[in-house]
Amino acid sequence: MNILLLGSGGREHALAWKIAKSSKLDKLFIAPGNAGTNQVGTNVNIKAEDFDAIKDFVLGNDIKMVVCGPEAPLVAGISDFFKNDEELKNIPVVGPSKEGAQLEGSKEYAKEFMLRHGIPTAAYKSFTKETLAEGKEFLKTLKAPYVLKADGLAAGKGVLILNELEEAQKELEEMLGGMFGDASSTVVIEEFLSGIECSVFALTDGKDYVILPEAKDYKRIGEGDTGLNTGGMGSISPVSFADEEFMTKVEERIVKPTIDGLNKENIDYKGFVFFGLIKVGNDPYVIEYNVRMGDPETESVMLRLENDLVELFEATFAGTLSEQKIIKDPRFAVSVMLVAGGYPGDYEKGKVMTGFEEVTDSILFHAGTTVKDGNIVTNGGRVIAVSSYGKDKAEALATSFKNAQKINYEGKYFRSDIGFDL
Ligand code: AMP
Ligand code: GLY
Repeated sequence: MNILLLGSGGREHALAWKIAKSSKLDKLFIAPGNAGTNQVGTNVNIKAEDFDAIKDFVLGNDIKMVVCGPEAPLVAGISDFFKNDEELKNIPVVGPSKEGAQLEGSKEYAKEFMLRHGIPTAAYKSFTKETLAEGKEFLKTLKAPYVLKADGLAAGKGVLILNELEEAQKELEEMLGGMFGDASSTVVIEEFLSGIECSVFALTDGKDYVILPEAKDYKRIGEGDTGLNTGGMGSISPVSFADEEFMTKVEERIVKPTIDGLNKENIDYKGFVFFGLIKVGNDPYVIEYNVRMGDPETESVMLRLENDLVELFEATFAGTLSEQKIIKDPRFAVSVMLVAGGYPGDYEKGKVMTGFEEVTDSILFHAGTTVKDGNIVTNGGRVIAVSSYGKDKAEALATSFKNAQKINYEGKYFRSDIGFDL
């Protein structure tokens, strides 16, 4: 069958790489894709949010399945757009309905959902402009650090963690005053949880689910998890502390109740659920839900998933997910992100990249790249994810770091301590 994948990051290159291995695939198209996705499929110059153009392309190219990489089209309702269209309604979209996507699109919605279904998460209250004074009072009842979250999508930047009460009160006022536009017209204030984080992924049809290999990502720009938050500087799978005992708790306390909750509430959800977890003591808590795969987690997770991904998608739509068994590559997989100088602040694009042909034993998942005048050039803050296998963590990392040295462009930076805390 022909498949259309939406998105343009490292996650999408990793998904495209995996889909391209499927025995079920005829042609893979990626909209809009990047310089890497074009090596495993065909890029199409359509934005992932342009539903009308997507419709024309799907009908004109005999597309039999659409896979949505990023959250924005899901929150904007791409699955419903297909379901409600006479000509598109029989074409499955991997990704939840608009309602299901609210698990990521609104922190308040997600918190209320967790509360309804007894899913462990930080205690919280939410506030709007009208209740700013109460919000400031509420902060006084909490201990530092203070966690403030914009309710809506804010490109991973909507969470502030502050050590001083006055600062937290000031930031609350600024957030409600439009710091993140509409996304922060409601702000969730949360209890601070202290522990180590990991990402768990399920693929669900809204009733049954399979759990994919877990991963840990490294969000801060600086070594030792210091400095500004980024989209993610690297990932590793498996995660040593996510042992059988911990993962049993995750499944029983979090994954199952989440999927049962979707089912009970009749929420149409056929796609990935990303559980952003934190281990407090020995117990998992949900920090956030996402309604898509993680980036850069996907760049490690896809290396360890041995199943045919398209078969898993087919099972999701056939209602046969319970018959599927996930097979994991026993090796370690790591991904080291090369980024642009200055990222996550201001950075330049269009830097010519060289050294690709010298890379051996790693898979280069392109994130922010494009082709210009016959050269591959940088086209984003996160540029390329150098992904490798190893018999252990050290071997996989050594391969990625060796190859990270071989790719060159002006301003290149990467963290050389991915996995340091495991
Ligand atoms: P989020 O966008 O919700 O994933 O939050 C971004 C990051 O902020 C998370 O990955 C955590 O490192 C941190 N964070 C969010 N909520 C909390 C919390 N309640 N306690 C401690 N850290 C948090
Ligand atoms: N790596 C975190 C995310 O994709 O949101």
